[in-house]
Amino acid sequence: MKGIREVNFTGKKVLVRVDFNVPMDENKNVTDDTRIQEALPTIKKLLSDGASVILMAHFGRPKKGGFEAELSLQPVAEYLSKILGQNVVFTQSLDFTEIKALADGLKQGEIMMLENIRFYPEETKGDVQLAEKLAALGDCYVNDAFGAAHREHSSTATIARFFPQSKYFGLLMEHEIVNLKKLMTSPTKPFTAIIGGSKISSKIDVIKNLLPLVDNLIIGGGMSYTFAKANGKSIGKSICEDDKLQVALDLQEEAKKQGVNLYLPVDILAGDAFSNDCNIKYCPEVNIPDELEGMDAGEKTRELFGKVILESKTILWNGPVGVFEFENFAGGTNSIAKYIAEATDKGAFAAVGGGDSVSAIKKSGFADKISYISTGGGAMLEYLEGKVLPGIKAILD
Ligand code: 3PG
Repeated sequence: MKGIREVNFTGKKVLVRVDFNVPMDENKNVTDDTRIQEALPTIKKLLSDGASVILMAHFGRPKKGGFEAELSLQPVAEYLSKILGQNVVFTQSLDFTEIKALADGLKQGEIMMLENIRFYPEETKGDVQLAEKLAALGDCYVNDAFGAAHREHSSTATIARFFPQSKYFGLLMEHEIVNLKKLMTSPTKPFTAIIGGSKISSKIDVIKNLLPLVDNLIIGGGMSYTFAKANGKSIGKSICEDDKLQVALDLQEEAKKQGVNLYLPVDILAGDAFSNDCNIKYCPEVNIPDELEGMDAGEKTRELFGKVILESKTILWNGPVGVFEFENFAGGTNSIAKYIAEATDKGAFAAVGGGDSVSAIKKSGFADKISYISTGGGAMLEYLEGKVLPGIKAILD
């Protein structure tokens, strides 16, 4: 691992790619600062070494090419300044002569942040010239943006080639890689994966890649209705990917072949509309009347999943098992969080990833019980699919 722990960055100008693509409300208040907090150890280590830090980050997916006020990183820079307790130099300028002058003027222990790197349309193309201009701002490159490590962009991957001897993983990135590696190469058995979320299509490759590793696979949430329908059950108006029915059957068959125990919901809380205040009906088995849609796992399902979780030594959770954003249908997902917390109390290693499951675990109040919470959504999924992430490869090459 080419980490930063053993390196002294005194007097260096260090370019750090972070993932500060954080949720913000309409008043530009950061509503979940996990990604910023998790990048602080790297930033603080560099500043305390006496380096000057130049942060690069993206926000949203700008389309216009050039500055867009709505997607400016200024509020994030201000927020960082507040929690860091020091000024963060920020410029909205996209002009490299101006940016270079600011970077050159940074003293030891000072920090600046560039404007949304995706305001340069070349960024997402992995453009070499943009990478070269960015590289000219610093002496070393640190990638601490795990959440964007699956993107082969100028600031996440291409830039690394300009620092063959001075490119490093930041502490956040190192933590993610160590934990994901542990999960995928030497999990203590029994290993249980809980895969939820609305669509099976986004999780097929993850499931395929996990099957040789896990002992138990729990499928919950919206995607379980595709499995239910494929198995001939009535699912009413529940979400379903009709073109993936055969895929569901194939995955089931593959799980059987590989000796993996597959668990699907056995009872359901259904509603007559997709809203928190709809009329709720309990379906004691997965046989949902035509006018209703599945919204959450029922009590028997929660107990079934809980028993498997409590017997596990390694747990991976990605995706909620119900419409947890509606309070009346958050019970199933909260019970998963609770059982995982109980399992970790008994010594299990638990990893949680994916935006929805991370917010669910935070909402449930059990986040501090989890061994490892990933800051990556898509990046974690691609890692779990067995893909080589360009942001990681670029440092290792
Ligand atoms: C994320 O929020 O998952 C990362 O910041 C990556 O963002 P992207 O999907 O827009 O590349």
